[in-house]
Amino acid sequence: MKRSGGSPTVALNAKGIRMREEGVDILSFAAGEPDFDTPEAVKAAAIEAIRNNDTHYTSAAGTTALRRRIARKLREENGIEVSEDGIIVTPGAKPALFAAMMCFLEEGDECLVLTPAYPSYRSGILMAGASYVPVPLRFEDGFRVTREMLEEKVTERSKMLIVCNPCNPTGHVLTAQELRDIADFALAHDLLLIADEIYEKLLYDGRTHLSLGAVPEIRDRVITLNGLSKSAAMTGWRIGYSASDPALARVMLKLQQNSLNCTAAFTQTASIAAFDCAEETEAMRRSYLERRDLICDGLNAIPGVTCPRAEGAFYAFFRVDYRGMSAEELADHILEKAGVLVVPGTAFGEGGEGCIRMSFAADRASLEEAVRRLGQLFG
Ligand SMILES: Cc1ncc(COP(=O)(O)O)c(C=O)c1O
Repeated sequence: MKRSGGSPTVALNAKGIRMREEGVDILSFAAGEPDFDTPEAVKAAAIEAIRNNDTHYTSAAGTTALRRRIARKLREENGIEVSEDGIIVTPGAKPALFAAMMCFLEEGDECLVLTPAYPSYRSGILMAGASYVPVPLRFEDGFRVTREMLEEKVTERSKMLIVCNPCNPTGHVLTAQELRDIADFALAHDLLLIADEIYEKLLYDGRTHLSLGAVPEIRDRVITLNGLSKSAAMTGWRIGYSASDPALARVMLKLQQNSLNCTAAFTQTASIAAFDCAEETEAMRRSYLERRDLICDGLNAIPGVTCPRAEGAFYAFFRVDYRGMSAEELADHILEKAGVLVVPGTAFGEGGEGCIRMSFAADRASLEEAVRRLGQLFG
């Protein structure tokens, strides 16, 4: 726990809260949270489940009905052949991530992470006692990964590789070539792969999602993580899952049995309805896309700002060339002078220097106002 440290953005968030308490008009784009409400069908199913007294423990892995529905989804939508005994339902995707790291990493192991990356990967690796090995991707290359970049970082002690696709924070979506390279690399070095696919439904410009767990040669070494937080705007419900070879699932299940026990019963029942909410998810995606273009067009018109169009997820990850400031200095300056709360790119590790992450899961008026303020600050 000592090695893992706290969240790098706590101080900045605290400063934003303090400024707001002092009456400053702060616009916040720091959180990774959909700004939509949960679909009505899911809410109705939850109320009915509570009325039906669906309020007891379930089996630790989750109800059979939900695990069957998840297995069907993975087969039909992702091409991942998994049976229900390879699935563990968890309270959000994060505990599934944590379980995979606690179960399969130990002191002496190295875990490779494509960076910039979701900060919990690094924390979890260090909590498990293993070493965090970043594979820094480059802004100039659109954060694409190559086999050479991976080979440069691998050692005899490498045990696992974590891949977030689509990526938080960069918005990069893996191409077929990258997927192939990662799969071949994992096979060549006998690595476990964590495929965090929580943003899979939020893809833009005609892209398709490719799952590592669907590559036949590596299916027994991929742990797919997903959940309903982003696709169905259900962050507070806490529903996620892991899908893997049953032999791996059995190990992770021991941790769940002895820690979380199970995910809340009525949320599991209600979640089944969320898998049939494709229309609502698609409406959210289209709305995010409009806002992505609003923010990118606005930011790119500001001198010194380069904002690539996110290929997926709901973050603008842009570079600001301003008085030689570092990412942290930039984020602080933006908060202090423009009242806009963002996340410095370095909070996501190596490769994030000079960059800022800003969620565009926010209302249009706030996004327009943020662009106006940043234009004044840097223009
Ligand atoms: C890349 C990534 N993985 C996992 C999670 C965790 O999701 P959940 O809220 O379902 O635990 C998040 C949430 O922000 C995320 O961005």
